[in-house]
Amino acid sequence: ADHEIPHISKRKITYSTIKSSPFLAQQGTEQVRVPNVIVLVGLPARGKTYISRKLCRYLNWIGIKTKDFNVGQYRRVKVASAVDGASAGFFSPDNADALRVRTDCARRAMEDMGRYLQSKEGEVAIFDATNTTRERRQMVIDFCHAPERDPKFRVFFVESVCDDPKIIEQNITDVKINSPDYKGRMEAEQAKEDFMKRIENYKIQYEPLDEDDDYDLSFIKVINAGRSFFVHNVAGHVQSRVVYFLMNIHLSPRSIYLTRHGESEYNRMGRLGGDSPLSENGMKYARRLREYFEKENVRDLRIWSSQKIRAAQTASFLKDLAAHTEFWKPLEEIDAGICEGLTYEEIASRYPKQFNDRDKDKYHYRYPSGESYEDLVARLEPVIMELERQSNVLVVSHQAVLRCILAYFYNVNPSELPYVKVPLHSVLKLTPVAYGCNAETIPFNIDAADTHRDKPANLSPSRSVDEALATLPKRVVGDRKPPTSNNPPPLS
Ligand code: ADP
Ligand code: F6P
Ligand code: PEP
Repeated sequence: ADHEIPHISKRKITYSTIKSSPFLAQQGTEQVRVPNVIVLVGLPARGKTYISRKLCRYLNWIGIKTKDFNVGQYRRVKVASAVDGASAGFFSPDNADALRVRTDCARRAMEDMGRYLQSKEGEVAIFDATNTTRERRQMVIDFCHAPERDPKFRVFFVESVCDDPKIIEQNITDVKINSPDYKGRMEAEQAKEDFMKRIENYKIQYEPLDEDDDYDLSFIKVINAGRSFFVHNVAGHVQSRVVYFLMNIHLSPRSIYLTRHGESEYNRMGRLGGDSPLSENGMKYARRLREYFEKENVRDLRIWSSQKIRAAQTASFLKDLAAHTEFWKPLEEIDAGICEGLTYEEIASRYPKQFNDRDKDKYHYRYPSGESYEDLVARLEPVIMELERQSNVLVVSHQAVLRCILAYFYNVNPSELPYVKVPLHSVLKLTPVAYGCNAETIPFNIDAADTHRDKPANLSPSRSVDEALATLPKRVVGDRKPPTSNNPPPLS
């Protein structure tokens, strides 16, 4: 049956389509893991590149290898020196020569994208161009469904529709006049005027996605920067993750503050994990952190803290400055399993193979009865999603957790993620700008243990304990030599 729920009109079904179409029937028998192509659609200055880059970052962070292909960049390589390669006339539908160049650039980007997916280097490619005509979109579909492809690339369109002149104006002044199309070539006002003309040229040929005319396609329309959405024919895991993500992001200005708890007793001893309280220096930090936030005077600040004593103690100093303080289990430090409460020296001497395996692949290594960084990323996904939804937030957490969160914002790859530097007693302030975010580190100049251990040079399984410990951070208190007893100290 075409419509199993006849009383729901097609216009109202926004999440999945009940009608059986040849397209859907084909998807039902497809493999689960097929390459996905996400195709942006929309007039200039609708946030397509912003969405592409942000999606790319998110998908890579959750472990889906993704790359974006921006046709504008291919165009700039091809017509970099031509004066009219960027000005409005180039984008007129009547400019046949330019149209040929643009189609050629789109084709090159598409072919690179095809190679990227076909070689299995990546699982998702994002095709960032205007794709405002059906003809252009059909070219992409034909490419993705070419007869020789097995499996076919699954195509998902993400259309950004925006008729709010304030948003468009802001996008042009914040981003477009500084783009390589204009920077150093035109004054700001002139660039703005030219860009508006470019948009008009695209409007002449624009054919938005349509639930009837594009019934068999899978797409989401993001309307007025996420005020509403229209979702049609979502197929598969990647597409549903994309929809989920796009429905959670927003553009309102805000800042995200990240800090580790103040120095703990265990930090001073070089012991991992546990649940020890703040040291004296740690208390000093918590008090100074309060002073900092008193000065910052952040509107509607939300504090999210780990439930561990050292984090909760730190956050408790700020409680009355916040609109809300919450203690989240997912913000707790990596669970070091059988190594909880030990020092790196103790692990190196008791469990040399484990210690070595971790150094060889720190991101994927899972402590026996504990966690890996990869596990951490999975447990932090709801935190990232909630961070995306919220306004001003301060996160009080731990070294490994904050490395994962920072990797999301900075697109750090899994091999480098476990080595991101997150020192004690400093605040990191992230503020979204244009395509990414500004980071400001605020050091507090209060003594603290160094807990960062770099990857040692020698990764051989036969290395000595000394070689394994070559990059050990300086210890504040306690003996650096491994203890002779085999009993780990009690977790305080
Ligand atoms: P395009 O690629 O469509 O020409 P850009 O991505 O270069 O546009 O525009 C960037 C700006 O778009 C950013 O400043 C960002 O704030 C804004 N933006 C992001 N998402 C959206 C959206 N859904 N609608 C409108 N503007 C958006
Ligand atoms: O040493 C402080 C600490 O937060 C430990 O609790 C945790 O096990 C460790 O850092 C994580 O860092 P790494 O993954 O570099 O060992
Ligand atoms: C561009 O050249 O900047 C561009 C986005 O190309 P197209 O409009 O042809 O997709």
